[in-house]
Amino acid sequence: MSNNALDSKPSMEVPRHLRIVRPSPWVERWAHLIRPGGAVLDLAAGGGRHGRLFLARGHRVVFVDRTIEPLADLADTNDAEVIAADLEDGSPWPLGERTFDAVIVVNYLHRELFPLILSTLAPGGMLIYETFAHGNEDYARPRNPDHLLKSGELLEMVNGKLQVVGYEHGLVEGGDIAGVKQRLCAVNDLALSERDDGDPPAHSISRV
Ligand SMILES: C[S@@+](CC[C@H](N)C(=O)[O-])C[C@H]1O[C@@H](n2cnc3c(N)ncnc32)[C@H](O)[C@@H]1O
Repeated sequence: MSNNALDSKPSMEVPRHLRIVRPSPWVERWAHLIRPGGAVLDLAAGGGRHGRLFLARGHRVVFVDRTIEPLADLADTNDAEVIAADLEDGSPWPLGERTFDAVIVVNYLHRELFPLILSTLAPGGMLIYETFAHGNEDYARPRNPDHLLKSGELLEMVNGKLQVVGYEHGLVEGGDIAGVKQRLCAVNDLALSERDDGDPPAHSISRV
């Protein structure tokens, strides 16, 4: 077959996650709590819809994904750094000892990464995590239990390590992608108490 024949093959359909450019409402909801100008990690970034939100808000953003072609337009963006890495093949953690003021993980689950994700949070840093959960298999992909959170699993991940300021689990009918989801927003400030009782500082949970 000639190269020309290959070139003329119809292109593959654009994957679902790249057709969605609006950030998740859960990420938008908590964006105001991230330290102004702070460094943000968009892990398994896809087309980078969340990292792009934070670039627009004046943050420095590191995007990590094994497929970085959808992020190619960010090559000349000063505050954006794009790292190509497979997070599941046993390669070294691509961020070394770097820490961030916020880590965003949306629609991606690889449980072995939980300790590494927690270790990338700077003191006071925020974890915003949202992905599909058990029950989603009745609606749409993903259906593989390896990619679906168990009830309370994100709470267990951060228990005793982060302050939970937001958590939800259930069927999301509107939003970016419908399905059964679990959502967490938690802050790495359990050790930053200035109170006699040791409780961490309170954060605004008002919807802005
Ligand atoms: C459903 S998409 C979500 C993208 C983005 N977080 C969003 O919400 O739009 C999942 C992303 O995980 C990435 N991914 C899957 N397996 C990966 C791996 N082993 N290493 C790095 N990235 C991976 C895919 O390339 C894809 O961009």
